[in-house]
Amino acid sequence: MTARRILFLDHTAALGGAELCLLDVAEHFRATSQVALMEDGPLRAALEQRGVRVTVLERAGSLQRVKRESSVPGVAAVGAVLGAAQEVARLARGYDLVYANSQKAFVVACASAAFARRKVLWHLHDILDPHVFSRVNIGVDVFLANYVASRVIANSQATANALVARGGTRARIDVVYNGLDPAVADAVRAHDVAAARASIGVGGAPLLGLFGRLAPWKGQDVAIRALAICADSGVQLAIVGGALFGEEAYGAELRALVAELGLERRVHFLGFRSDVPVLMRAVDVLIHTSVTAEPFGRVIVEGMLAERPVIATAGGGASEIVEVGVTAWQVAPNDPAALAAAIAEVLGNPARAREVAAAGRRSALERFTLAATLPLTERAVERVMGAAS
Ligand code: UDP
Ligand code: GLC
Repeated sequence: MTARRILFLDHTAALGGAELCLLDVAEHFRATSQVALMEDGPLRAALEQRGVRVTVLERAGSLQRVKRESSVPGVAAVGAVLGAAQEVARLARGYDLVYANSQKAFVVACASAAFARRKVLWHLHDILDPHVFSRVNIGVDVFLANYVASRVIANSQATANALVARGGTRARIDVVYNGLDPAVADAVRAHDVAAARASIGVGGAPLLGLFGRLAPWKGQDVAIRALAICADSGVQLAIVGGALFGEEAYGAELRALVAELGLERRVHFLGFRSDVPVLMRAVDVLIHTSVTAEPFGRVIVEGMLAERPVIATAGGGASEIVEVGVTAWQVAPNDPAALAAAIAEVLGNPARAREVAAAGRRSALERFTLAATLPLTERAVERVMGAAS
């Protein structure tokens, strides 16, 4: 197969799940491809460390100020998109296609197609929910997906279904789940796990782990409320993640909630960490608490690969990842009592927890490895190259 020359484009250089996904995909295509970022940040160093060529676009900075919920695309926003699009177009001339990894990047990629006449592939990582994104944003995305992009990769059926529900054309979408490298989980050393656990300072108490950026929709408050009603008052909770996209106020709210509920000695905020695979092995149970449907949910798969018992919130990609009662436990969103009951069940049945965790790992090894998903990404790229528009 011809090695396709891909210009990957992302608006952010923070390490969110979509960007960690891009890291692996861009590494796979690195011999013939490069990544253009609309800001500088940790993703650049992470890509370069993997041998991926990166350009930080100079004129894209002003686009960062255009909010996702804004309903009127102002003159400044249009100007920022066009400026960035010209810069992308110049780069794109050396590539076969532009692979947009975020919504803002997608709009810029589509505008750049007008200048550079390159095909556009959109990797959609979000559920286009009108409660989350403005109707104008969704309308623009759907129009561009149907008439400008050659194809769309959706990170789950749920993400694909939401796009179709807003008017997107089903036949243009390929669903490709995120893949992970199991070698990362397998390389974790026991003494690092012991050291991580010791640093949290919980001794032998049961420790729950909640991984993900601090954001209201990730539901860290639900986990804290569940902890407050856990029958076993010795259970501890590690919250791993930072406020990546300006959601510091929510972090402060979480700390206030912990104080209000008197849980200071049981809730451990570890901030953003780059040793997630180690920390996952250091916890006894992995919980996932998103209150709106999770588009995919890398942390769930990572927990399964780490062979932890996982309690996931129903909905979105999470429900596609887990087989309830076989590979994980599932609870309704935003229901601390249900979560507390599930935690009690898992902690009270260690043999069953081990059995489910082992089944979870087997399932993740079968369905969510890079070895399984990268060929599907390659196929989507080939379809773009063969597509008419
Ligand atoms: N993550 C991380 N450090 C942290 C918290 C999370 O590296 O402190 C990683 C986590 O391992 C996962 C990603 O961030 O790979 C989050 O992806 P997910 O799909 O779960 O959620 P998103 O943030 O993309 O909505
Ligand atoms: C997004 C979604 C998350 C998904 C990730 C990778 O950030 O919020 O659910 O796992 O992209 O596709």
